[in-house]
Amino acid sequence: MRVIQRYKGVLVTLIIVVLIFYAYELDDEYLETVGELLSIVAGEPINSSFPITFYQSAYVDHRFDPPRLRIFTINKCLKNYQFLLADLHFNVNGSAPVRKNIYGIPLNRKCPINYIEQEGCVYNPYTFSIDLKTNEDPKKVTIHLGSRKVELNVEKIYKKATKGITVCLQPVYYFSHWQNILLFIEAWRAQGATRFIVYFHSATKETWKVLAYYRDLGLVEIKHWPSFPSFPVDIAYKYPRIDDSVLRNAYFLAMNICILDIKTTFGTVPDFDEVLVPTNGRLLDYAIKEMAGTKVGALIFDNHYVSFTPNIYSANFSGVASPKFRTLAWPSKYVFNASVIDIAQVHVPDSFTDPSMISIKADGALLHFRYDAESKNLTTTEKPYRFFPDNHSTHIKNMEDTAKKIFNGVIPKFSSKSNDALHECVNKIMKSEDKICVSTGGLCKAEMDKVEDWVYAKSEPLFLIAI
Ligand SMILES: *[C@@H]1O[C@H](CO)[C@@H](O)[C@H](O)[C@H]1NC(C)=O
Ligand SMILES: *[C@@H]1O[C@H](CO)[C@@H](O)[C@H](O)[C@H]1NC(C)=O
Ligand SMILES: *[C@@H]1O[C@H](CO)[C@@H](O)[C@H](O)[C@H]1NC(C)=O
Ligand SMILES: *[C@@H]1O[C@H](CO)[C@@H](O)[C@H](O)[C@H]1NC(C)=O
Ligand SMILES: *[C@@H]1O[C@H](CO)[C@@H](O)[C@H](O)[C@H]1NC(C)=O
Ligand SMILES: *[C@@H]1O[C@H](CO)[C@@H](O)[C@H](O)[C@H]1NC(C)=O
Repeated sequence: MRVIQRYKGVLVTLIIVVLIFYAYELDDEYLETVGELLSIVAGEPINSSFPITFYQSAYVDHRFDPPRLRIFTINKCLKNYQFLLADLHFNVNGSAPVRKNIYGIPLNRKCPINYIEQEGCVYNPYTFSIDLKTNEDPKKVTIHLGSRKVELNVEKIYKKATKGITVCLQPVYYFSHWQNILLFIEAWRAQGATRFIVYFHSATKETWKVLAYYRDLGLVEIKHWPSFPSFPVDIAYKYPRIDDSVLRNAYFLAMNICILDIKTTFGTVPDFDEVLVPTNGRLLDYAIKEMAGTKVGALIFDNHYVSFTPNIYSANFSGVASPKFRTLAWPSKYVFNASVIDIAQVHVPDSFTDPSMISIKADGALLHFRYDAESKNLTTTEKPYRFFPDNHSTHIKNMEDTAKKIFNGVIPKFSSKSNDALHECVNKIMKSEDKICVSTGGLCKAEMDKVEDWVYAKSEPLFLIAI
């Protein structure tokens, strides 16, 4: 397709020449085929009948040479000849904008996604991009979808200079395991993390209190991740709501937007029950040793399922000192050089700004302390990995003291009822006769609201539709 785009001028001319040559012999059917062919070769602008939602900001990413304009969306799968018709406004003086055709790719590379449970999924997270000239500095981007339009502000991205690790977290949907967050933040801090960016949709009050505590310490940045807007009325009835199947889409989108917001040299995209540890020492030192000044853009850590005795939900954090390792083949997670990561996938980096960068396997482990680890009947094995690079008893005491401080001395008893409700809802969807996208979100809201008084994100206009 890229080759076709490059030579489209030549191809269009050729087709037109052929058309003129045979013009007097053409019937209507033939003309239609030619029209279709022309749209494939010349491309076709996405118009207002197409379901698409935009992240509010476009980015000029100066980590690329030349700099690249990047736009993030969630939309129905595209044909690869479809493009966004965009006006780039270069200054505020009302000089004429420059018009560009901008092509996109799905962030997870496949559209539609080919997992069985994704059969009913209509939407995918996309990224659209185009190279700019070094001196081109757009201030605003207007996307034209036929008669409708949407305006995006523009943010600039540069190489990262501050030493440290930034941890990006997927949007928190109906989250109740607040103990995970305490262990997660303390372990990651001990490994060298300096900033946590948490996209927040909904959680229990206890979870919110833990997040707010670390936000007030200046460690966690809570970014509201509101529900997605509905499409304009004339197309809304034709498509499912994005919000109904938002989880997986949100994950990819938030991860890749978060990466741009990182200001430290390293970044990572784990879940609240995952900590990356090297076999020896601190993750930050290990990452510097392996990556600084090299072509290594990411270190990949194998998944190790761990459980604690006693478990952190029913008792205290004492079990963290001696995790039990269970054999289960789950996928990896990674830490990356934030100056060179381009697109992030969930388990491995997808691409780098400099194509000569590589990923290597780390000497360490992804410690995955999933809440249901104990309930699985798995053999445990000995491993040398630990959550903290130094004295565990100090950290365990610190976590318990912190929990007491957050909850004014009365540690809330953990209840699995909201987590159970979420799984019940998902199971119901999976058993349904209809092809429903098993990527919940709004689809479970009513059921979730029955079991808990949730803290929800503020509704901010983060996602835009063309009007
Ligand atoms: C919008 O695009 C679709 C194909 O993507 C096309 O069938 C339709 O005619 C277009 N509508 C307008 C008003 O151009
Ligand atoms: C905008 O207009 C003002 C006054 O006409 C001029 O001084 C300034 O250089 C212009 N800015 C740009 C970026 O063109
Ligand atoms: C990140 O990658 C760049 C480009 O290869 C390299 O110069 C830099 O040292 C790396 N930074 C770190 C902290 O590894
Ligand atoms: C932690 O919980 C375990 C199991 O309930 C208990 O034996 C232990 O005394 C507790 N430790 C502290 C410091 O409270
Ligand atoms: C757990 O696994 C062991 C060995 O694989 C098996 O003998 C035992 O019956 C299992 N226990 C349960 C509760 O499934
Ligand atoms: C770890 O810390 C505890 C209490 O903070 C202390 O009693 C113990 O001696 C320390 N152990 C080591 C090996 O430093």
